[in-house]
Amino acid sequence: MLFKQPALLRQKLFVLGSLALGSLLYLVARVGSLERLQPICPVDNRAPPQSHEQIPLRTLQYKRGLLHELRRGNSTREQNLLHHLVQQLPRAIIIGVRKGGTRALLEMLNLHPAVVKASQEIHFFDNDKNYARGIDWYREKMPFSLPHQITIEKSPAYFITEEVPERIFKMNSSIKLLVIVREPTTRAISDYTQVLEGKERKNKTYHKFEKLAIDASTCEVNTKYKAVRTSIYTKHLERWLKYFPVEQFHIVDGDRLITDPLPELQLVEKFLNLPSRISQYNLYFNATRGFYCLRFNIVFNKCLAGSKGRTHPEVDPSVVAKLRKFFHPFNQKFYQITGRTFNWP
Ligand code: A3P
Repeated sequence: MLFKQPALLRQKLFVLGSLALGSLLYLVARVGSLERLQPICPVDNRAPPQSHEQIPLRTLQYKRGLLHELRRGNSTREQNLLHHLVQQLPRAIIIGVRKGGTRALLEMLNLHPAVVKASQEIHFFDNDKNYARGIDWYREKMPFSLPHQITIEKSPAYFITEEVPERIFKMNSSIKLLVIVREPTTRAISDYTQVLEGKERKNKTYHKFEKLAIDASTCEVNTKYKAVRTSIYTKHLERWLKYFPVEQFHIVDGDRLITDPLPELQLVEKFLNLPSRISQYNLYFNATRGFYCLRFNIVFNKCLAGSKGRTHPEVDPSVVAKLRKFFHPFNQKFYQITGRTFNWP
């Protein structure tokens, strides 16, 4: 019957051929896009995954579902085995600064499909007891991820802890280091507010910020107060620069991350050699919270916990002015070293 109708046969063969060619082109395009996501540098010293360990080409929808669970830290044991998911050492660390917006930065970067966050602060390098547990302990604290993804952790205490730069250097001398900063006086007040809240929760009394920040005997800024010392960014950075070149650091503007996060995130994507994937769709302003919140997809969105974005106590303007004057020369040096300038007073 078919042979009697060669025109119809030719037509069917043409349709089948077009379908096969279309599928082939689609697969080539998908493989191409996966390749673009491959890391620039190796994850760590382990051998790169063999070809049979590469991500199988499953349906797009299924992969999206898996990525979604990975982002939430919810991948199942079966998914881990099936996809050869691995716990990788971080290739980038948010080393500080405390109250700079470290949580917001980590959560926002986690919107990127090639980034997986370590949800908890691990405190491996700043805590001697944890550090003594060894690198395998650290790796086991990491989330499961696909081989091409990069793991990021944040522990803001790293920035100010003496031993940390050398320890991180020993783990990976080419690691990328993210430092998110805010105007130093505001950061110090935010730091104070967090400690104050902790004291109040325990029904403990606490000094006013002014009393802690200013030395009553000299009427000068109290450089022994930790919240003040942490805001002298250049002092801490200089310690890090004994181990890492300045190019390995990226400075994030924590004040802009609050008001206009996308451009800051795009700069980080670039620094991490990631394709630009975080878009305005992923970030929406929530007027009730007064902050940007995160939209992963049509069903999953979230704002940061209420402990982020506390109301600061009012501080005597003369103390604020004194602190700003104190930080000024340190800020100038910080701009000079990092090549990033802020409009801090
Ligand atoms: P405040 O509580 O002083 O407002 P960290 O995570 O390093 O502790 O930083 C906390 C700060 O992150 C908060 O300080 C807040 O201002 C800032 N932040 C930046 N983006 C935010 C966001 N989208 N939601 C909540 N807080 C955010």
